[in-house]
Amino acid sequence: MDLSETAVRIRDYRPGDLQRLYQIDQICFAPDIAYSRSELFFYLRHKDSLAKIAEWNDDIAGFVVGRVEANRCAHVLTVDVIPDARRRRVGTALMNVLHEEFHKREIAMVFLEVDVSNRGALDFYERLGYERTETLKGYYAGRSDAYRMVLFMEKPPE
Ligand SMILES: CC(C)(COP(=O)(O)OP(=O)(O)OC[C@H]1O[C@@H](n2cnc3c(N)ncnc32)[C@H](O)[C@@H]1OP(=O)(O)O)[C@@H](O)C(=O)NCCC(=O)NCCS
Repeated sequence: MDLSETAVRIRDYRPGDLQRLYQIDQICFAPDIAYSRSELFFYLRHKDSLAKIAEWNDDIAGFVVGRVEANRCAHVLTVDVIPDARRRRVGTALMNVLHEEFHKREIAMVFLEVDVSNRGALDFYERLGYERTETLKGYYAGRSDAYRMVLFMEKPPE
């Protein structure tokens, strides 16, 4: 897949995407960490969820799911990019669109969790401005730890 030849388009999630997103999540994470189909369906359909799809050449190259929480906070539940499309700014484009949605909802702080051994994702989030705040012991299936990472959002330009 050569993403340089065709533009990546970010759009809203549609119910017909579910099966492909499930497949992508299974590719991106170990079986005991990846979402079940019903968990993914629940998060995608939740009334406070925001799900964005990266589309390339009529296929889905990745997706992000965030959720608006109480007290002007938001949670990034997952961002998944298929292996062939990585390091081409697909993940960055998804996160930028999600952040724009959070801005519109006047979110002040965004948080997420990432496996301490997931160096690529840690670099990815740090590049987006997220900072590690704490270690969550056994967060992933009781067998691996997570860092909580936080981003304080700037006010959008007037
Ligand atoms: C993490 C992930 C979403 C990044 O998506 P991506 O589209 O490849 O990321 P981008 O191309 O936008 O990367 C932007 C920058 O982040 C950093 N980065 C991204 N992936 C990296 C990696 N594997 N190693 C080191 N740095 C990385 C780099 O600074 C990169 O810029 P560069 O390519 O110019 O060096 C993708 O690797 C993925 O889906 N991984 C599996 C699922 C996962 O771990 N999700 C995150 C945890 S919830």
